[in-house]
Amino acid sequence: MPSDAILEVSDLRGGYDATPVLHGIDLEVPQGSTVALLGRNGMGKSSTIKAIMGILPRRSGSVRLRGVEMSGLDSAARARAGLGYVPESRQVFRSLTVREHLEIAARPGIDGTVAWSPARLMDLFPVLGRRSKAMGNQLSGGEQQLLVIARALSTNPILLLLDEPTEGLAPSIVGEIAELLGRITAEPDAPSVLLVEQNLRFALRVAQACVVLVDGEVAYRGSADELSGRLDLQQSLIGVGAA
Ligand SMILES: Nc1ncnc2c1ncn2[C@@H]1O[C@H](COP(=O)(O)OP(=O)(O)OP(=O)(O)O)[C@@H](O)[C@H]1O
Ligand SMILES: [Mg+2]
Repeated sequence: MPSDAILEVSDLRGGYDATPVLHGIDLEVPQGSTVALLGRNGMGKSSTIKAIMGILPRRSGSVRLRGVEMSGLDSAARARAGLGYVPESRQVFRSLTVREHLEIAARPGIDGTVAWSPARLMDLFPVLGRRSKAMGNQLSGGEQQLLVIARALSTNPILLLLDEPTEGLAPSIVGEIAELLGRITAEPDAPSVLLVEQNLRFALRVAQACVVLVDGEVAYRGSADELSGRLDLQQSLIGVGAA
């Protein structure tokens, strides 16, 4: 594996109780890049990032973050080690304000970095700045999604794990989230990103590399540019075209 990999996953296996779901996944996220984890419903995308985060009930294999083995650690220790996780269920608190969500989550990164302060986040996410006093239950779905991404950034992670940030959102908001992720990841101190997506067009817009899962195994890996041109693979492995 290249030495610039922030995340190296090898032979990752796991599942729920008696049901094996992941059958030996190898993937890596290079330093400073966004990798999209794609595939149809039920192929194991969320399970893969849950296993990386240490919350899949059964799991084995190696997960290394900047060369440090995570396998013996629980999810809280993995978060402290630099994994920022945004689950599918957004988990916004209805009676906390936007600012409070960020302030409560904020902590220095593993290197002591405090690059993503609540103030900087509200600057970079102008919607959140404008809505800083709004309660969680007053936010739209798109605003909630932006808030949970900002909240994960406020922990100053090395790697951000995003599970379907566009799910259930209107196309105009999806475009805003793509634009925002592009701006964040262009910052020199941005974390690398592993992005689970069903929305292929969004994934190809924000990621440099793609990994496609079929039945808990890696069926394809390649650059976003390559997958953009492979309509046959888009159709056969993901079931949709980017158009
Ligand atoms: N809590 C659970 N208990 C048992 N089986 C589960 C559980 N969650 C998911 N599964 C099963 O594990 C397999 C992989 O699910 P997973 O949620 O990882 O897929 P996914 O690729 O994220 O799908 P989606 O696009 O629908 O989010 C599926 O067969 C699913 O039914
Ligand atoms: Mg999922």
